[in-house]
Amino acid sequence: MTQATTGAMNTAQRFRESDAVKGAVSAIVEELKTHSAEITEVRGPTDAALTQSFDSFIADAAEVRGRPLVYRYCGSGIGNGALVELIDGSVKYDMISGIGVHFFGHSDPDLVGTAVRAAASDTVMQGHLVMNEEGVRFAETLVEQAGKNSRLRHAFLCNSGAFANENALKVCYQKKDGLAPRVLAFGHCFMGRTVTMAQIGDSAAGRQGIPLSTLADYIPYYDHVAARRMHAGEVSGATRYIDMCCWHLQQYIDRYPNQYACFIFELVQGEGGFNTALPDFHKSLMEVCKDNGIAVWADEVQTFGRTEEMFCFDALGLGEYIDVCTVGKMSQVCAAIYTEEFNPKPGLLSGTFLGSAVGLQVGQRIIERLRDGDYYGPDGSIARHYELFRVQVAALAQKHPEWFPETDELHEFAHGFGGMMRFSPYGGEKEPILKLCKALYDEGVITFYCGHGPYHVRMLPPLGVMDESHWPRIFAHIESAMGKVGGSGS
Ligand SMILES: Cc1ncc(COP(=O)(O)O)c(C=O)c1O
Repeated sequence: MTQATTGAMNTAQRFRESDAVKGAVSAIVEELKTHSAEITEVRGPTDAALTQSFDSFIADAAEVRGRPLVYRYCGSGIGNGALVELIDGSVKYDMISGIGVHFFGHSDPDLVGTAVRAAASDTVMQGHLVMNEEGVRFAETLVEQAGKNSRLRHAFLCNSGAFANENALKVCYQKKDGLAPRVLAFGHCFMGRTVTMAQIGDSAAGRQGIPLSTLADYIPYYDHVAARRMHAGEVSGATRYIDMCCWHLQQYIDRYPNQYACFIFELVQGEGGFNTALPDFHKSLMEVCKDNGIAVWADEVQTFGRTEEMFCFDALGLGEYIDVCTVGKMSQVCAAIYTEEFNPKPGLLSGTFLGSAVGLQVGQRIIERLRDGDYYGPDGSIARHYELFRVQVAALAQKHPEWFPETDELHEFAHGFGGMMRFSPYGGEKEPILKLCKALYDEGVITFYCGHGPYHVRMLPPLGVMDESHWPRIFAHIESAMGKVGGSGS
């Protein structure tokens, strides 16, 4: 029974409910709003002394890390929605949001208020052996959403997407009593940087120097361009492509009978290029998995929260197939979520930490806001933002066709799903795209690249705090940066 039902309060509840604490939290949030409101547009450094300390931070970062930062970035700790201030007083549009972490942008008063309250807890970190209430409440809130249209029922929390994936893999292996040592995944997938995930993740650089101990086999991800080329006669290219991949999967299964513990589905590829697939593509492969006793695992570390449903498997109507799912980034705390059938035996999963009090309480608040807002569905705000983004890219390509050469290798100049947005100038060539990312950064718009060829400029914008008026302003900066990079990007 909770305090609401009994009226009884323990010491901590009396502390949190005290006028002094409530007043202090509210004073901090009000003061934050005043200062945050001063940040209204992109600007350069505001003061020579601040620039000097920024330069010295950048030098210190390179020294201690043994390599320079990708961007000259050091957040000051304040921002206003999609705008972030750096320690030199400059302000940029944050269109990458910590690679998908800050869906509600910078200095969100509700989240900062939640964080301040959580920071007054007796301990900073919660653990698997002993935890405070938030360790359970976060997981409950997450599972309630995950289980809306699936059999997912339990969540095991941890601190990174890669570790959530490690836990999910253990669960899948154990379900087969260790007798199925192989895994299936998509070509160009990314799963994190632990020794095992770096092996499964399909990037040569990510595996460099790592002895291979994990048996991974790859199915091509859906390829709109290849599917288009495969169209012949009555049969659509999509059908042929899907049939080809199912055939490929069946070949592996026949080659290694009963050897596969799971197929890891990155439903929209993240690092691999913000590639999307037709729901039927996933569905057909998942059906083959089901027929052969192979666990279906959705790695939603990057997709969680930002497509047209909270879970991308829901947006694609795949809930019935999912045995295991992993989430991270926007949720602040990461998790492996699984069905009752996949609930592992005691002793398989644990760890000192499950998350910080701040991460857990803020993460729960984020899930509640996503659940209660108008974000999802084909007419939800995430889908509307995606359309606004596409309109801007189309207008830019029309105005500057020299930046967007037509090429057979590219599906569309603007592509993605919901809050995973990419645009592809310069024929998708790597060097000019990297140059553009740097130029955009200098111009005041933080983005990053994705893909393994073709390459794209990617955005994971803080859509929770953006409105229609942001897009023309952001694209004016993009046009300006592209003007500086030049026609072909070289
Ligand atoms: C699909 C996917 N899985 C796993 C990870 C790893 O997450 P983390 O970097 O939190 O370990 C990422 C990170 O980008 C990801 O995109």
